[in-house]
Amino acid sequence: MGGLEIKGHPNLMVGLDSPDDAGVYKLTDQIALVQTLDFLTPITDSPYEFGQIAAANSLSDVYAMGGEPITVMNIVCFPCCDLGEDVLAETLKGGCDKINESGAVLVGGHSVDDPEFKYGLSVTGTVHPDAVLTNSAAALGDAIILTKPVGTGIMSTAIKATLATTDNIRDAVAVMSLLNKTAASVMRQFNVNACTDVTGFGLAGHLLEMAKGSKKSITLFTRQVPLLPDVIDFANMGLVPAGAHKNREFFNSKTQIDSGVDRALGDLMFDPQTSGGLLISLNKKDAPACVERMKIQGQNAWIIGEITRESDTGFLSLI
Ligand code: CO
Ligand code: CO
Ligand code: CO
Repeated sequence: MGGLEIKGHPNLMVGLDSPDDAGVYKLTDQIALVQTLDFLTPITDSPYEFGQIAAANSLSDVYAMGGEPITVMNIVCFPCCDLGEDVLAETLKGGCDKINESGAVLVGGHSVDDPEFKYGLSVTGTVHPDAVLTNSAAALGDAIILTKPVGTGIMSTAIKATLATTDNIRDAVAVMSLLNKTAASVMRQFNVNACTDVTGFGLAGHLLEMAKGSKKSITLFTRQVPLLPDVIDFANMGLVPAGAHKNREFFNSKTQIDSGVDRALGDLMFDPQTSGGLLISLNKKDAPACVERMKIQGQNAWIIGEITRESDTGFLSLI
């Protein structure tokens, strides 16, 4: 942040100098605050589903830090003249249902009149200072677990092109509105080294952020990455959002894509996600048990990569 003079603080455990999912501030030796905010423009025709997705997306960053959300506030930008009040009410109801499911409590919020509708949450969570999970402590010998299929950006493009079926839309909405709560609660039962969630940089971009922060090289097994149904076909048809190309370009110098990975699959690895899954780095020997325990809890999970070697700059191989 050029020009800004950001003061540090002895209690600040995770701040702007280390790009992560949320800020963490230690209150006592027993408890630290986890703080984050996020908001989105509508991504479905259903205001209720949009509310669910935006709330799940905002809550996710607290889970990604190893925390539990406790209080939330609504952030609303709403074009009062263009959209009916029922649209806002349905959106807030979708958000509220997800907040209740998370166990957090809605304590307030703020709304402004804005030509472009936006909704999200400011979320405060807590975590034990010794249990904070950053994206920068992945270790040699770790495997990487992913807890949601990818492809929501490409699916949104297919929806806009009216090529997605109602099943396609239902699947994508189910994935995006799923809370990372169960995944996080199982993860906390294991000795996890690093965690983040998959959002705008795409799976590969967030893996590379983890690689950079941890000074490691990561190998991504592209064929083991779970995909939403039909997104590979949509990617082959070129229904790839500009953000996926931008991500691919942006991370290009620290990424190597094996010639066996075809263009469409490569694009999916960089597809910007909304409310994606957790990326969990933990010792290889614990990874299968973690996946198993998630499945017992009704949470899908896949081992999709591993930490292979030291790397000062961070590196990602897609094979
Ligand atoms: Co995040
Ligand atoms: Co975020
Ligand atoms: Co994190």
